[in-house]
Amino acid sequence: MNEIAPFESKAADSVMEAVNLAQSYAVARGMFAKPATVKAVNGISFRLAPRSTLAIVGESGSGKSTLARMLTMIERPGTGSLLLDDVDVADADKATLRRYRGEVQMVFQNPYGSLNPRQTVGKAIEEPLLVNTNLSAAERHARAVDMMARVGLRPEHHGRYPHMFSGGQRQRIAIARALVLRPKILVLDEPVSALDVSVRAQVLNLLVELQQGLGVAYVFVSHDLGVVRHMADEVLVMYLGRAVEHGPRDAIFDAPRHPYTRALLSATPMADPEAKKERIVLEGELPSPFNPPKGCPFNPRCPLVVERCRQEMPPLERKGEQLVACWVAQ
Ligand SMILES: Nc1ncnc2c1ncn2[C@@H]1O[C@H](COP(=O)(O)OP(=O)(O)OP(=O)(O)O)[C@@H](O)[C@H]1O
Ligand SMILES: [Mg+2]
Repeated sequence: MNEIAPFESKAADSVMEAVNLAQSYAVARGMFAKPATVKAVNGISFRLAPRSTLAIVGESGSGKSTLARMLTMIERPGTGSLLLDDVDVADADKATLRRYRGEVQMVFQNPYGSLNPRQTVGKAIEEPLLVNTNLSAAERHARAVDMMARVGLRPEHHGRYPHMFSGGQRQRIAIARALVLRPKILVLDEPVSALDVSVRAQVLNLLVELQQGLGVAYVFVSHDLGVVRHMADEVLVMYLGRAVEHGPRDAIFDAPRHPYTRALLSATPMADPEAKKERIVLEGELPSPFNPPKGCPFNPRCPLVVERCRQEMPPLERKGEQLVACWVAQ
């Protein structure tokens, strides 16, 4: 196992620390073939400062959702540690897990899937309180209505059903439900990708407001770099399950060093007329995760590839303000 130092956040304390998190899946490949192993996440480390936002970006299949499921303890990490308040919950017993489950909540891409169509909005938001606290029905109701107001829903919405709401409002309901236990950390997996462009900005601005009001930290998974630039304090770029670049937002956007980050950014239209446009077109597709290339996983698509990249995996090293895994990047 390669040791990767977590990115040193400026903040002294952290609400969550991931150390070398990894997850593999055995996948059947037909009757006669041996099952193959996919390393969906491979050695991810970071520290999340209180009230800050860490964005996780990367192409489809890079392992973002797998990482999100481990961070929320929906799935135990294959290896590595996940520290909450300096307690490792990666292989904690059930009682410890229960204690920490309320501190990390998740919002999914599709609010249809996360809301029960037969449950009223109010009951859906109160459910985590019913399961995790001893609050009375009246207290639960009051907390739910308070949280509904914070996300821009009205008290009379309490008795209505999810189908009576638009996609944007449904995502507000999902956010209220995730925040009602007052978690320290919210993991959001593509929270606005399924929404109409017209309501995306509203939901993103709501998330910014909620972070300031409630002091919650976000792990924000997105493939949309425009959104990430708006939301993130720090950015971690994943490629085939690994971190290839990780650092403060401005360093990543203004001075990206990994050729993959540069390619991602060059493909994203940014509202910055000053920026000189160096368009890098990535050749080929994401390699099969069953059979990742030897050496640097990005080498078959990399415009800067040298022989060493085909032989040895580059470690994640500090270059400038960020950490970069590349033999060639300056
Ligand atoms: N439960 C599972 N069983 C088998 N393979 C899985 C499982 N979950 C994820 N994978 C594989 O792990 C890799 C990473 O998947 P993951 O869903 O984490 O990527 P992602 O970055 O979230 O992609 P997307 O942007 O499409 O949501 C993929 O190759 C995927 O097929
Ligand atoms: Mg995903």
